[in-house]
Amino acid sequence: MMLFTLLAASFLPLADFVSAERVLGAYVFQRHGDRTAKAFPPTQLTDLGYAEEYLTGSFFNKRYILSGSEYHIEGISSSVVNLAQITASAPQDHVIQNSGQAFLQGLYPAVGSAANETLRNGSTIYSPFSGYQLIPMSDVHTSTCNKAEVSSNDYYYSSSYQQLLSSTSKLYQSLTPNVNGAISSSQLSFKNAYTIWDLLHVATIHNSSANLPSNQIMQELLVLANNHEFNLAYNSSEPIRAVTGMTLAGEVLAALNQTITSGGKSKMSIQFGAYATFLSYFGLAGLSTNANFAGMPDYASSMVWELVTNATGTGIPSQLEISVRFLFHNGTSIAGSTQLQSYPLFGQSAVEIPWMQFVNSTNKFAITSQQQWCQACGNTTGICDSSSDASTSASSTGSSTAGMSLAVAGVIGAMVTLGVLAGLTALIILAFNLRLVRKSTLAAISRGSEASIVPLPAKATSA
Ligand SMILES: *[C@@H]1O[C@H](CO)[C@@H](O)[C@H](O)[C@H]1NC(C)=O
Ligand SMILES: *[C@@H]1O[C@H](CO)[C@@H](O)[C@H](O)[C@H]1NC(C)=O
Ligand SMILES: *[C@@H]1O[C@H](CO)[C@@H](O)[C@H](O)[C@H]1NC(C)=O
Ligand SMILES: *[C@@H]1O[C@H](CO)[C@@H](O)[C@H](O)[C@H]1NC(C)=O
Ligand SMILES: *[C@@H]1O[C@H](CO)[C@@H](O)[C@H](O)[C@H]1NC(C)=O
Ligand SMILES: *[C@@H]1O[C@H](CO)[C@@H](O)[C@H](O)[C@H]1NC(C)=O
Ligand SMILES: *[C@@H]1O[C@H](CO)[C@@H](O)[C@H](O)[C@H]1NC(C)=O
Ligand SMILES: *[C@@H]1O[C@H](CO)[C@@H](O)[C@H](O)[C@H]1NC(C)=O
Ligand SMILES: *[C@@H]1O[C@H](CO)[C@@H](O)[C@H](O)[C@H]1NC(C)=O
Repeated sequence: MMLFTLLAASFLPLADFVSAERVLGAYVFQRHGDRTAKAFPPTQLTDLGYAEEYLTGSFFNKRYILSGSEYHIEGISSSVVNLAQITASAPQDHVIQNSGQAFLQGLYPAVGSAANETLRNGSTIYSPFSGYQLIPMSDVHTSTCNKAEVSSNDYYYSSSYQQLLSSTSKLYQSLTPNVNGAISSSQLSFKNAYTIWDLLHVATIHNSSANLPSNQIMQELLVLANNHEFNLAYNSSEPIRAVTGMTLAGEVLAALNQTITSGGKSKMSIQFGAYATFLSYFGLAGLSTNANFAGMPDYASSMVWELVTNATGTGIPSQLEISVRFLFHNGTSIAGSTQLQSYPLFGQSAVEIPWMQFVNSTNKFAITSQQQWCQACGNTTGICDSSSDASTSASSTGSSTAGMSLAVAGVIGAMVTLGVLAGLTALIILAFNLRLVRKSTLAAISRGSEASIVPLPAKATSA
């Protein structure tokens, strides 16, 4: 008995030490899961991709949501979702939207009878699918940023591009038997490096009858595709090319700031998207000096910004005691042994960055308002025309959303295109009398592989 007490006492300091750090909030940017090839639209999430996203969501459930987990976000609801604490958003893209739903199923899984509801008349309502939880996803609005598009297009005139185009022409022409007519001979060149690699990569996963190039050639094709895509997503002498990363940086800043200024009412944000946004952010945040970060992240990759503190007590401490930690996971093994890995940002050495310093460094490239976006992009028409009705009504919609609860809602989000999602959201509000926060986001789709620059059929915004 006494021995037991002594032992327990000697473990106490350790336990105290382990629990010293508190996680106050987190922002996750999540790539979609495995999908069909871009060369055969419409591209769809596969069952494998669905499973990957679900497992990744489950990983984050174990990290942040379950009570008692090491990185439990302080005060976040641990089984039944509290929609005031969490926001999720995705662009209008099948692959990305479905990935988002799969991830959210894992993040807040069905709760069985814990979701029962007792009505005034005494009847118990058992919620469908064993207490399946509904988490609305708001729209990430994508629009072409004029200057970013011009900058990305310039890449096709650069000497590095022209050189690779000619030095690799033999390699690409040699792929004729492998692509089996899906890509015409005239399109088999470095210009389509991504779409070609993608077609063959998808075949290596799914197509048992495909005639594949050797592993070594596949590796060469990946290196070339990485080079092509990174150059479209980021260029140190033309920062605007990375406008998607700039916009994301602004959103991360606004969301984390909201966690602080609301006293912890909002706690977690998840945005679903595509690899080009990762590459843009990697470039801007100084990560791509590590060559691995100049490569496309695998399906279902995650990047995360955690708001952490060592201050004792509970609740949000002084801003001076709060830090931000960046973490990344490459791909799909997240549910297995691999864990998120932290990396220092902005060319520094410390993994935890004091909040004020994070704000300063991020503000060097972040786009934090629609006006700033219009200015940086050199767009002057539509919502960027300050004299027009469109602009006035857009910004008033924006501020009304902002007034609800998340300041971020209206920041970049004045461009409101809600479509079907708006309908769904309204329905959910009516049905459950919930107050929802809507966020629409302006993110450019200027990168070649993801928009109109690639001559092959490739769906805009995409994945
Ligand atoms: C209670 O109300 C619900 C919903 O209006 C209804 O479906 C149910 O039949 C009622 N139960 C009783 C016992 O009246
Ligand atoms: C939940 O509802 C179901 C179906 O009405 C019922 O069988 C179950 O006992 C309820 N559980 C609780 C905890 O209320
Ligand atoms: C910005 O300009 C580009 C190129 O002119 C145009 O395609 C795009 O729709 C504009 N975006 C907005 C939000 O005005
Ligand atoms: C940046 O882009 C310009 C024009 O596209 C190009 O000449 C230059 O080599 C690029 N810089 C880097 C570091 O790739
Ligand atoms: C699988 O590969 C075969 C042989 O190249 C091709 O005919 C077929 O279209 C491919 N299937 C898919 C779904 O891409
Ligand atoms: C955080 O939000 C507050 C209140 O809305 C605002 O005054 C402040 O400028 C914001 N800070 C950052 C870094 O966005
Ligand atoms: C992620 O993995 C891919 C290969 O699957 C690689 O090209 C890329 O560089 C990796 N990224 C990082 C940051 O390790
Ligand atoms: C909290 O303290 C631990 C141990 O000293 C340290 O490694 C960690 O960086 C600190 N975290 C923050 C956010 O300061
Ligand atoms: C952030 O920037 C402001 C204004 O430039 C400066 O006064 C402040 O010292 C900076 N704070 C940190 C922590 O770098």
